[in-house]
Amino acid sequence: MLPRLPVCILIFLPVLVQGSTASSPEKSPAAPASPPSRPPPPLGDPSWALGLRLYQVLRSGSSSVNTIFSPLLVASSLGALSGGSAGTTASQLQDLLKTSSPAKDGAHAGELLSAALKSFTKANGTSFHLHTSSALFSKQAPPVSQAFVKDSQARFRLKHQPLGKGDSKADLKQLHGWAQAALGGLEGAPLAAEIQAKAGALIVANAMRFKGLWEREFSEGSTDHRTFLGKKYTKVMMMHRAGLYRHHEDMENMVQVLEVPLWAGKASVVLLLPFHVDSLARLDKLLTLELLSKWLEKATITSVSISLPKANITSTLSLQKQLSALGLTDVWDQKVADFSGVSEKSKGKLYLAEVLQWASLELACQAGKGDADLEEENIEKPKLFYADHPFIILVRDNATGALLLMGALDHVEGEALHDEL
Ligand SMILES: *[C@@H]1O[C@H](CO)[C@@H](O)[C@H](O)[C@H]1NC(C)=O
Ligand SMILES: *[C@@H]1O[C@H](CO)[C@@H](O)[C@H](O)[C@H]1NC(C)=O
Ligand SMILES: *[C@@H]1O[C@H](CO)[C@@H](O)[C@H](O)[C@H]1NC(C)=O
Repeated sequence: MLPRLPVCILIFLPVLVQGSTASSPEKSPAAPASPPSRPPPPLGDPSWALGLRLYQVLRSGSSSVNTIFSPLLVASSLGALSGGSAGTTASQLQDLLKTSSPAKDGAHAGELLSAALKSFTKANGTSFHLHTSSALFSKQAPPVSQAFVKDSQARFRLKHQPLGKGDSKADLKQLHGWAQAALGGLEGAPLAAEIQAKAGALIVANAMRFKGLWEREFSEGSTDHRTFLGKKYTKVMMMHRAGLYRHHEDMENMVQVLEVPLWAGKASVVLLLPFHVDSLARLDKLLTLELLSKWLEKATITSVSISLPKANITSTLSLQKQLSALGLTDVWDQKVADFSGVSEKSKGKLYLAEVLQWASLELACQAGKGDADLEEENIEKPKLFYADHPFIILVRDNATGALLLMGALDHVEGEALHDEL
């Protein structure tokens, strides 16, 4: 035994030395005195990883007009389901939440999502007005495990709700009623797909209605009628404001990136606007997590003159096809799906019939309320961020960096104008 000892020391010594310098406490305070606060880059976050991929497949169908969904809600509900599943069902669910940073495993994704949900709902009423709810509906299912119900509610705010005994029309009515209540009374668009829930069906439903309150308001007095050059040319109300914002221009890809903070800094809105009037097809194809991450890191405080339409972006989505395209295949098949953590008697009985999402985002002038301790802005030769044509929009939580909402505005309702101007 003894002769081996020096060998061990030789091997471990460099590792120890390296480790101690890397984690040396003197290193971290070397950052500038007051770095502008910003959330961590999104590369290691499951809501961004799933959100970007889901956005790509949602938008690859040519007919998409105005898309909005909450990656955080989808990811956390699927995270809860993965905790109630086993075998390939579980691994396919976990794969959807994988990030490109290799150290983060499935359990870690669950913790991140759960923390983000907490941080985000706490900011309700400060940085934004929020209505949100998530439910796991079940149709004539075997008794659901109380441990699963408790855990998914506590960590992922996913409540279990049985569907009535009626036919698919009755199911649809119940789901719509649930969504309307979850959206604080807002009536969502009807679902395009039919609901086919056999006995043993599980349905994930997420709803989110979001109205951001800007850190600095767009004055109501400066709003005016302008033309929005979307799918149809329409006359809309536009709001305007000049100020200091994080901004980046990607000359090669011809897109402007703008980050607008919300009141009290709990979240921010990121806008991606093509240089020229165009459908978003080019930008949609271009968009990857890596590129977006690079843009966000490159954005620097700049004088910007912003014009945005007042608008509501609303979507009602069935995500089954899209999630299947991303590799989630076993869950839909009653013979294969393994939800043995949801119910012990589940094998061959429980399966996932749908993943539904109702979402709405309102763009308006208002800032938050309270003591504003904001410095005077010194604006010089502002860049123009003139959003009179389609753009992509994202909302991220500041504390955790999670992606709350992602979508695109292709069209704004308003009096129609003739195409030839
Ligand atoms: C935003 O997040 C950063 C770290 O990610 C933090 O330092 C800062 O205090 C946060 N700002 C607010 C207003 O919560
Ligand atoms: C946010 O606050 C509003 C007003 O207090 C409340 O109606 C709503 O239910 C809250 N939303 C959530 C998700 O707690
Ligand atoms: C958006 O919806 C809210 C209520 O749901 C409404 O008060 C507001 O006027 C709408 N905004 C536009 C631009 O239509």
